[in-house]
Order: sequence, then structure tokens, then C-alpha cells
Amino acid sequence: MEKLRHIVSTRQFADTQLLEVLLDSAAKMEAADKLRELPQSMRGLILATLFYEPSTRTRFSFEAAMQKLGGSVLTAENARESSSSTKGESITDTIRIVNGYADAIAMRHYQEGAAKIAAEASLVPLINAGDGAGEHPTQALGDIFTIRKELGKVEGLKVALIGDLLYGRTIHSLLPLLSLYKDVEVSLISPPSLRLPEKYTRELTERGVSFVETDRLAWAIERADVLYVTRVQRERFASDEEYERVKDAYVIDAAIADALKKKAIIMHALPRLGEISPEVDANYRAAYFRQAKNALYIRMALLDYLLG
Ligand code: NCD
Repeated sequence: MEKLRHIVSTRQFADTQLLEVLLDSAAKMEAADKLRELPQSMRGLILATLFYEPSTRTRFSFEAAMQKLGGSVLTAENARESSSSTKGESITDTIRIVNGYADAIAMRHYQEGAAKIAAEASLVPLINAGDGAGEHPTQALGDIFTIRKELGKVEGLKVALIGDLLYGRTIHSLLPLLSLYKDVEVSLISPPSLRLPEKYTRELTERGVSFVETDRLAWAIERADVLYVTRVQRERFASDEEYERVKDAYVIDAAIADALKKKAIIMHALPRLGEISPEVDANYRAAYFRQAKNALYIRMALLDYLLG
């Protein structure tokens, strides 16, 4: 198994081999954390978090992961305004400079494709923490970790992806990982204007994944093992009117949550707006806060893999 130097896309995972290594490592990290016995394998190493777009979970969990493993962090949480990019510095130059100070870089950028450009310029491991409407591979790795923890397996599950499939980068990264497991069935539920881009539906077909596209939420309710809800990505819309038209297309409320299969789970990368009512939080199927915590352990596993 060839070692990955950078994590830019989940399309770098050709099979479940490395994925399973990371999932097992994340589970070990979690167990060690509970005992306060985490390996201090990052001692003396520095992670730079270079964030050109807002974030709470992703940046904090990367920084917590690094620090809990004994490393330290350099952080630019508002790099669009605070870094030299306002002076017109290219991504490539910025990465070259940060390479001199940090042993790894987690970067979030507003442009799709920025992570690939950064990785090509980077001598230290570059982790894509979200590139515009492109990808969010570490979120997707954490999501698979959550599904496996909650339901015991990924094979054979019926997964409904709901909401903004056009701009939702977590979905764009999750689909290739789901496709690595046997007999996964996907339903793509969105308003017609927010359908999954054709390049990704074509990819599902090529990978032999069975899927349906529909705008009807009811389709998923009786069938789904995983209901993966997304936020409509307001920041990617050309106009506010367009956003207002679709923002409340789907709302998961207590009645819907109760109507799901007994063993089904509800996931969301968060932040949520109106698409999951707060009353759903009390339902045992609501896995989204556990999902956010799980991302800490997959990020530990990733840092350990890339730098250990
Ligand atoms: C997601 C993102 O940034 O793409 N958030 C996250 O990292 N947990 C989802 C979103 O912003 O809707």
C-alpha cells in the first residue's frame, strides 16, 4: 500500500485497505483518550491551520488532535483577511513560506481546486480541510468512522443524502468512500436546482453504485439506515433570492425522526440551520453531535499516519 503524502481528495482511496487502517487507528485513539493515555507522537511537531473560510469544528478538532498528541499549532483562522493573500500573494507562495515553519498544513479555502494546487507546492503533508464546493475529505473519513461505530458496518446500508448536493462538499467526498463498500444503496434527495453535479453521478455509475435521484424526502424515510442531512450552502449562491427559495426545502422534525427505521441514524456535518429541528436532538437516532466528536479521532489518526 503506497503511503499518501497529502490528503486532498477521498478519490485517493482506491479500496478500503488504508481506510480501515485509519478507522482502526481512530478507534484506538478514542480508547486511549478516554484513559488519558494518548501517544505523544507529535511532540516537537507543528501543524499550521490555514483557514480562508469560517470554521469551528474542523479547525478546533485539528488543533485539539495535534495538541492532544503532544504537538503544537500555528493558526490563521481568518486567512482571507489576515494573511498575505490580501496583498495578492498566491497560494503557492504562501504554502512555500508556511513549509518553512510547519510540519503539516491543514488548509480550508474558498476556491474549488485550491487544495490540489497547495499540495503540489507543499513539501510537508497538506490536508484539504474544505476547498469551496469541491471536497472535504477528512469530514468524510470521520463520517465513515461514525457510520461504522453507530451501525457496526458500512456494507449493505441504505444511505439517503439530503439537501444541497450541488455545493455540499461533504457529500462530494463521502460518495467515493461509500462506493468502496459492497451493496451500499444511495438516494440523492434534493430540490431540482441543487442536484448532485453530473460528474459525480457519472462516477457513481462507473463505480457500480446503485442510486436514485429524487426530490421526495418520503422516499427515504421508510428505507434509509442513514439519513445524512446537509445545510444549504448560502455562501455559494449567486443571489439571496435563489437561496431563500430552496433553504427550507427539507426540514427533519420530531415526527419524521420517529418515523425512521428503529436502527436508523441521522447525521449532519454541522452547522445546521433550519433543516433539523432542535427537538430532534433528543431522539436517540440523532448522531450529529457524536459525529462531530468522532472527527477529532479520525484527525488524530490522520496526523499520526502522515507524520508518525
Ligand atoms: C461543513 C463544511 O464546512 O463543508 N462543515 C464542517 O466542516 N463540519 C458543512 C457545512 O458548512 O455546511
